[in-house]
Amino acid sequence: MRKLLLLMTVMIFCGVTAALAVPAGRTLEFSKSSMGTVKFSGKVHKDAGVKCKECHNADMFPKMKQGTVEIKMAEIYDGKLCGVCHNGQRAFEAKANCNRCHVKE
Ligand code: HEC
Ligand code: HEC
Ligand code: HEC
Repeated sequence: MRKLLLLMTVMIFCGVTAALAVPAGRTLEFSKSSMGTVKFSGKVHKDAGVKCKECHNADMFPKMKQGTVEIKMAEIYDGKLCGVCHNGQRAFEAKANCNRCHVKE
């Protein structure tokens, strides 16, 4: 019985995690910058072939929870966080494309 309960808990937990998963059609909004809101689309990144672990690892966004990492442009320009890819190689370069991320309402 206890084993069954544990299994059920694990299954429910996984189900919830999958439902919350960013690439499952979800978009996160980062609205602290005066440059305008950044809409981060899980779908766009999933469709571009980016795996969860490429972002959810110790060096980038360790927790699957919004607001745990403060994102500063200095780090992006320095090739960290979003800048690991948004450097003009894997994805469009941050410095030359402010408005592909920041959208004024
Ligand atoms: C291109 C980078 C990237 C990829 C790929 C990615 N994520 Fe995320 N994810 C983020 C960022 C950034 C956050 C917000 C982290 C923060 O603000 O501290 C986040 C947050 C989350 C959250 C929390 C959402 C909330 O409302 O708080 C979940 C759940 C999540 N990711 C699951 C996943 C899963 C599952 C995958 C793979 C199927 C995935 N992510 C792939 C960047 C990514
Ligand atoms: C692991 C690599 C990777 C990381 C990290 C990453 N991206 Fe991307 N991103 C991509 C790829 C690949 C594309 C699609 C190709 C392109 O548009 O250049 C993309 C596309 C986008 C787009 C374009 C959406 C559109 O349709 O115009 C936005 C906006 C974006 N990313 C924002 C972010 C933000 C914000 C972060 C950090 C929270 C981030 N990305 C982190 C790889 C990444
Ligand atoms: C790859 C996506 C992306 C691109 C391109 C981008 N930014 Fe950002 N920027 C972000 C994210 C994500 C944040 C965090 C916003 C938040 O926490 O609400 C941010 C935050 C900021 C902030 C406030 C924090 C800080 O570092 O001062 C400013 C100002 C800013 N961006 C300016 C710019 C300018 C100017 C450009 C173009 C030269 C640019 N950004 C291009 C994603 C991007």
